Amino acid sequence: MNITLERKPLEQVEADALIVSVFEGRKETRFGAADLSDAGEVAGKALETTLLHHVPGVAARRVLLAGAGKPEKFTAAEQRKVAATAVRFLKPKSVKKIAFVLDPEHAGGDYASAAVEGALLGDYEPDRLKTGDDKKSVEAFTVVAAGADVDLEEAVRRGRILAEAQNFARDLANEPANLLTPSKMAGAAQKMASEYGLECQVLDRAEMEKLGMGALLGVAQGSAEPPVLIAIRYRPAQPASQAHLGLVGKGVTFDTGGISIKPAEGMEKMKYDMCGGAAMIGAMRAIAQLKPAIAVTAFIPCVENMPGSRAQRPGDIVTAMSGTTIEVLNTDAEGRLILADTLVYARRQGCTHLVDAATLTGAIVVALGHLNVGLFANDDAMRDRVLQAARSEGERMWPMPLEDDYKEYLKSAFADLGNIGGRWGGAITAAMFLKEFAGETPWVHLDIAGTAYLDDAKPFLAKGPTGVPVRTLVRLAMEWK
Ligand code: BES
Ligand code: ZN
Ligand code: ZN
Repeated sequence: MNITLERKPLEQVEADALIVSVFEGRKETRFGAADLSDAGEVAGKALETTLLHHVPGVAARRVLLAGAGKPEKFTAAEQRKVAATAVRFLKPKSVKKIAFVLDPEHAGGDYASAAVEGALLGDYEPDRLKTGDDKKSVEAFTVVAAGADVDLEEAVRRGRILAEAQNFARDLANEPANLLTPSKMAGAAQKMASEYGLECQVLDRAEMEKLGMGALLGVAQGSAEPPVLIAIRYRPAQPASQAHLGLVGKGVTFDTGGISIKPAEGMEKMKYDMCGGAAMIGAMRAIAQLKPAIAVTAFIPCVENMPGSRAQRPGDIVTAMSGTTIEVLNTDAEGRLILADTLVYARRQGCTHLVDAATLTGAIVVALGHLNVGLFANDDAMRDRVLQAARSEGERMWPMPLEDDYKEYLKSAFADLGNIGGRWGGAITAAMFLKEFAGETPWVHLDIAGTAYLDDAKPFLAKGPTGVPVRTLVRLAMEWK
């Protein structure tokens, strides 16, 4: 999609469709819409869409009145949804060239970025492997800002970079496990890194053995596909501080559960068990272009969790890189095992602050549904930084408890830790397990099992991977002080 900015009165903009936001309680009388407003057809309700043809005095072929809700509640997150909904509404009608008018009262940089993001995120379809010729997508998207004086060019560029990175993560996440093995994931990371000037290193099984990553390797041993640990490095030209942010993402390319095998129903969704890793690769793609003043390294352990004659068994005891022994009571609690070694590795690589993202537990979906990411932290300041970034980006996250008393749930009779707790508080015991390996390093864990993919499409987003939390991570790096 070609993204541009035009500074013109909206009447003069040439386009197949001109999108204009209409607000609740602010009667729309332009475009001959007064009657529709009086009749209640144009009420400005959030995500309402009314398409007008041949509007006199307007150069565009169509005008889409896009409901934006109450003006006082109209945040950049709402803007993103409005643009995405409008694009998804117009796209099936073969509309190719769209112009989006920024509301004069909401015309700052964040709103311009959000409009662009909405367009790109809304246009996205996870249809790479469909062979039909009926795929439709928007070719051009113009942000129209009549008199605004802020630097919108930069905001439009930022929005494009962010949304393209998020869509890149979605594409990666959506690849089926036969096509995206751990080695292929490493290949995709290397390709991205060389395109954007980042350093990328891929550790193989032998190197991980040398490092003593027994927890990660135990998960990998059941698969014919070899494991990899991807490290992608960004270093600023002029660092603003000594801080070094580590981004750790779960990259289980398929999770059968291993010997503690999952039920067949819905198992196909476990191709999404690398969404955390995909988000980190996506975030690095944007970071390479936006160039924050902080050093950032992404670490993505990639494995396939399979049953088989070589697979680890319940009751096996493995030794993590930290020396901690772990009794593997359930082979389906594999994410925490591969993250344990990776967190320790990230700290040894000099990371001063850590964020991990993982489709870690079904329990977080029970707790928070599909709306909020579960956020756990061992440090209040770090928690607040991430929450602040998430709020600015409209990626909803909810703080969860992580008190030391929960550690009791992870007791093992035969090793330092068991890899599962009991029946209750499953998302918390998983986080508590990771906390052991984050040590004293300020760390935030994001459980994205409920938010990394949509089971059903929304008016503003296709079914499938969402690309959460790419934007939050990029903003966290950009706003680091
Ligand atoms: N990948 C799953 C978690 C998951 C569940 C992600 C549903 C997305 C949707 C994870 O590896 C897992 O299997 N977790 C187990 C842990 C249990 C064995 C303690 C779970 O949540 O059931
Ligand atoms: Zn599992
Ligand atoms: Zn898993």
